Amino acid sequence: MKLLAILALTSVTYAFPATSWSKLAETFNERRIRNGLHVRQSDPEPLAVVDGLTKIPDDDHPFMAPGPTDQRGPCPGLNTLANHGYLPRNGIVTQADILSATAAGFNMGADLAEVVSTIAIAYDGDLITSRLSIGGPDNRTSFLGSLQNIFGVEGGLDHHASFETDTSATRDDAFFGNDYTMMPNLYAQMKSIAAQHGGLYNLDAMKDLQLLRYQQSIATNPTFYLLPLQGPLNVIAKTFIPAFFSNGTYGAGGVPNEASISAFFGAELLPNGSFTAVPERFPDNWYRRGTPFQLSDAFEATLDLLNSTGIVFGANAGQVNSFLPLDLAAATNVNGLACILRDAIQANVPTSISQPIEIVEQVISSVVDLIDPLFGDFGCPAFNASQTQAYAAINKINNGSS
Ligand code: HEM
Ligand SMILES: *[C@@H]1O[C@H](CO)[C@@H](O)[C@H](O)[C@H]1NC(C)=O
Ligand SMILES: *[C@@H]1O[C@H](CO)[C@@H](O)[C@H](O)[C@H]1NC(C)=O
Ligand SMILES: *[C@@H]1O[C@H](CO)[C@@H](O)[C@H](O)[C@H]1NC(C)=O
Ligand SMILES: *[C@@H]1O[C@H](CO)[C@@H](O)[C@H](O)[C@H]1NC(C)=O
Ligand SMILES: *[C@@H]1O[C@H](CO)[C@@H](O)[C@H](O)[C@H]1NC(C)=O
Repeated sequence: MKLLAILALTSVTYAFPATSWSKLAETFNERRIRNGLHVRQSDPEPLAVVDGLTKIPDDDHPFMAPGPTDQRGPCPGLNTLANHGYLPRNGIVTQADILSATAAGFNMGADLAEVVSTIAIAYDGDLITSRLSIGGPDNRTSFLGSLQNIFGVEGGLDHHASFETDTSATRDDAFFGNDYTMMPNLYAQMKSIAAQHGGLYNLDAMKDLQLLRYQQSIATNPTFYLLPLQGPLNVIAKTFIPAFFSNGTYGAGGVPNEASISAFFGAELLPNGSFTAVPERFPDNWYRRGTPFQLSDAFEATLDLLNSTGIVFGANAGQVNSFLPLDLAAATNVNGLACILRDAIQANVPTSISQPIEIVEQVISSVVDLIDPLFGDFGCPAFNASQTQAYAAINKINNGSS
């Protein structure tokens, strides 16, 4: 009920309850039945078009399993890059490392990589050195070494409620204990959804998956939270599965097939039909997408996902099935969605980062300086500082959930 009070105080518009969770469950079941009827299980996997594309990894980047002090975490893309040495194998990375590795390994657009890595470093890393642990907290990220905890926590990507959040494809909600390891049962669930789409992990499969994970979180996690800033990032990450993990260019002959997806998620099929978690790797005979997947592409795919599932951002109010939607009316086009993310970044920065107090001001302005030019094309209005209060209040719910 604390949540209700906080929401009532904010200046953002809320709709109660525009979307009830039981209605969403209905939607999912209808969709599942519809898709089930259309799928012919015997359809052969389409052959990927890979002419002229670059085969990854190259000879300089062989797979090596991570050692005991190497950091790995909730992002299968970054884990894969580290296991092949495109990122430092110890999992302690800088922004420059991320920009070059995501371009080389996956053809991620520079603007998309810059936005995502800037957010990650501001919330989970060291702003002085731009060092980030792609897994848990690690003294190697901090400019101040082991003194870091005097000032605040550089949580690494595992840290819940800064970037990492609920309803992940293959990771449990933090409420259940471990939010960063690939869970074989969740992988199997994702695979069963792909099976309803001809065995492909395409955007339609991701829509069903996001909706199902959302319903599961609403029904089982009293602290379920999916609000800006983290919510849109979580949904964007689902679109990365077809966009980056396909063999070839998704949308231009690329195929998000089992062989590719299972390697990237580190899901090894056992003889008895269940999966086990192994280190992530590039699949054999795999071809990187030919065109960069950019910030605007990510927003477009995310908006499509949100629009066709009817998912709205919001949170459970301390018990299961108590979902309170946050109605962000502007998210009906790519520009609106981009501006929501950008406002949340700006509004959240002062309240969420755990950095030495002396540099917080500098941090805020440098993050905003970095982010703003990248969002120029989306025509976002100048940030209205009075929104900071609203987002800060929303973020308190977030900080309270674990
Ligand atoms: C650019 C720097 C990147 C950062 C800082 C980053 C960070 C993260 C984080 C924190 C999560 C967890 C989100 C959550 O809890 O919902 C995540 C998930 C994910 N990331 Fe990344 N990521 C990056 C790039 C990439 C790339 C290049 C790919 C693909 C090639 C990728 C694919 C994914 C996928 C598929 C998930 C969802 C995993 C799941 O839900 O099971 N990421 N990433
Ligand atoms: C990728 O596509 C090429 C060409 O169709 C094929 O030879 C290769 O086996 C595929 N790789 C994977 C991992 O599916
Ligand atoms: C960081 O170093 C300090 C001092 O050596 C140690 O007590 C602490 O456990 C370390 N923290 C992490 C996350 O490794
Ligand atoms: C499948 O085999 C693995 C490894 O032998 C075992 O741990 C697991 O419990 C088995 N699963 C089932 C459903 O039998
Ligand atoms: C999707 O977009 C269309 C057109 O912009 C809109 O009419 C419709 O209400 C949207 N659907 C959802 C679920 O948001
Ligand atoms: C900023 O937001 C506040 C609260 O929503 C509103 O009253 C004010 O008019 C806005 N200012 C501008 C310049 O849009």
